[in-house]
Amino acid sequence: MRILAAIGVLAILACAAAAAFFYGGFYNVAASEPHNGFIAWSLEHIRDASIAQHAGEAPGGKFDDPALVKKGAHEFVEEGCVDCHGGPGIEPEKFAKGMRPEPPDLDQSGDLSPAEVHWIVVHGIKMTGMPAFGGHTDAGEQRALVAFVKNIKSFPPAEFKAIKQRMAQSEGGEAGQAAGETGAH
Ligand code: HEC
Repeated sequence: MRILAAIGVLAILACAAAAAFFYGGFYNVAASEPHNGFIAWSLEHIRDASIAQHAGEAPGGKFDDPALVKKGAHEFVEEGCVDCHGGPGIEPEKFAKGMRPEPPDLDQSGDLSPAEVHWIVVHGIKMTGMPAFGGHTDAGEQRALVAFVKNIKSFPPAEFKAIKQRMAQSEGGEAGQAAGETGAH
């Protein structure tokens, strides 16, 4: 009986401690501070297990076709992946350094299978800032993004920089045109 009572008291204390932790504002959510070791470890393991569990089968076909990889490089710039992750020869935008977790350099992501990369791109990763792209990209664009991520290490930096520059120019052209149109009214 005493033992049961002691277990009861301990359970109540544990709940009170958990409530104090959850509602007391003790955990610092500031992105300017790194996660505490235990929380970082837990989040990382929950994420890896979740991705491995959900990834399922990759869409079929090969991912090393140069034309597909090149299409993926365009998508990578157009979708803004390069702003957070950087790319061959290109640094991420400054704001990415202030994110927690900081968006990783994708040429270090070699151990993710194509199925895992595909799942991450389509669904995103909650509470990390990694967006879900499934809602506004089609299957072909998603395949191309997977191909580019899997081959990012060997993609020539000069070619990637040229793609980014061309796309920035054509965006500038559209913006300029829009400004011109407004000016005419
Ligand atoms: C707003 C910033 C942002 C954008 C835009 C973004 N990502 Fe991410 N991405 C992240 C962050 C942050 C993580 C790290 C998540 C984590 O630690 O679990 C991440 C993780 C990933 C990972 C897993 C890497 C690994 O080694 O675990 C892949 C793959 C990835 N992103 C691909 C992409 C692709 C492809 C695009 C564009 C279609 C993209 N990301 C756009 C922020 C971004």
